[in-house]
Amino acid sequence: MPRHTEPMKVLLGITGGIAATRAADLARLLTRQGHVVRCVLTEAGARFITPLTLASLTGQPVAGANPDRPEWRATPVVEHIELARWADLLCVAPATADILGKAAHGLAPDLLSTVLLAARAPVLWAPAMNTAMWEHPAVQANVARLRGFGHHFVEPAEGLLACGEEGPGKLADIEDIAETVAWLGSPRHPSFSGKRILVTAGPTREDLDPVRTLTNRSTGTMGLEVARALRDAGAEVHLVLGGDLRAPLGLSTRRVRSAAEMLEACLARWEDMDGCIAAAAVADQRPESPAVQKVKKQEGPEDLRLVRTADVLGTLSERRRPGQWLLGFAAESEDHIANARAKLLRKGLDGILANDITGGHGFGPTLNTLTPVLPGGPQPPLGPLPKAELARAVVQWWGGVLAQP
Ligand SMILES: Cc1cc2nc3c(=O)[nH]c(=O)nc-3n(C[C@H](O)[C@H](O)[C@H](O)COP(=O)(O)O)c2cc1C
Repeated sequence: MPRHTEPMKVLLGITGGIAATRAADLARLLTRQGHVVRCVLTEAGARFITPLTLASLTGQPVAGANPDRPEWRATPVVEHIELARWADLLCVAPATADILGKAAHGLAPDLLSTVLLAARAPVLWAPAMNTAMWEHPAVQANVARLRGFGHHFVEPAEGLLACGEEGPGKLADIEDIAETVAWLGSPRHPSFSGKRILVTAGPTREDLDPVRTLTNRSTGTMGLEVARALRDAGAEVHLVLGGDLRAPLGLSTRRVRSAAEMLEACLARWEDMDGCIAAAAVADQRPESPAVQKVKKQEGPEDLRLVRTADVLGTLSERRRPGQWLLGFAAESEDHIANARAKLLRKGLDGILANDITGGHGFGPTLNTLTPVLPGGPQPPLGPLPKAELARAVVQWWGGVLAQP
């Protein structure tokens, strides 16, 4: 499949269902993300949303099934082959049962179905329909046939449908569709494409009793963005995640609480992995004996005895087989580069990213700077950047290091 650098040219097909109104938000989101979006409306789609709305949101002409109708005349009509060649990616959202059937069987009675047949670019479908329609064997057979052609799907969500029924058939989240578009269009990196990579992210929680817990200020944002950037670079990402944030789409994710659970989840996967980026903020201490029942208030000072938790990174390093690489993070409040280098040497890592957290920097969705440190010494810092961009910079940097002979 060809891969494109941004901005990507996205052809957004919109077909005739009530969810067509949400295609306006998708068109807006994709445009805001820097893609060039051109919409193709089916005739039924144009009964739910107007070309004027879509042209206004995308700044691009809208093409449709019936160029003779007065509403199309305001925008230039584009031939199906030109559109099919233009697109880096085709996304049909919402996709009716009807368009799935046409595309699955090579039928081309209107502009959108003809463009789909004439295009060589990747195709992403976001179906939306009544639950009984979605579950019908004919529709499922069409979906399977399209998957067989190499087409991709964002499955419909479950929920209350416009027809009053509850079940699968609702158009997937607009954000999930946009994220899948970005993933399909991202350039793959030779150091990561097809590689299996373990990523740890988020805080761990060490329980004191059934209601109280010891944790830290990490949200997991940086680790999740690293996982997303590795996925977009073509890796098969296995994420071990602490905290409450939602995992990115398309990863195999295991949610954990404590350092011991994180270690167990990592070790279960480590042998099959090519490498690991450990961004989780693992607690160093846990209560020696967590109480089974909620601890009652007492008069006077109370003592809390802490013991060391499992060393996730150190254990992965000890148990690695030849060829596996290990990249860590070090959040340091003083002398961050020297301390990060000491951690790298102590734990036998291949590289480490020093995160200067002085003054509360580095936590949550803020701009951040990371200094890569290799066994030979520090490298030029990456950032300050928003974490999504910083994660892509980390992946580019580490991909370059891995590619060196
Ligand atoms: C009010 C209304 C809502 C509809 N909603 C859907 C829908 O959500 N999903 C679907 O597959 N078809 C739905 N249909 C049926 C399609 O509009 C119909 O199959 C149409 O021929 C699809 O044409 P297109 O695929 O060219 O857009 C709906 C029809 C009407 C009248």
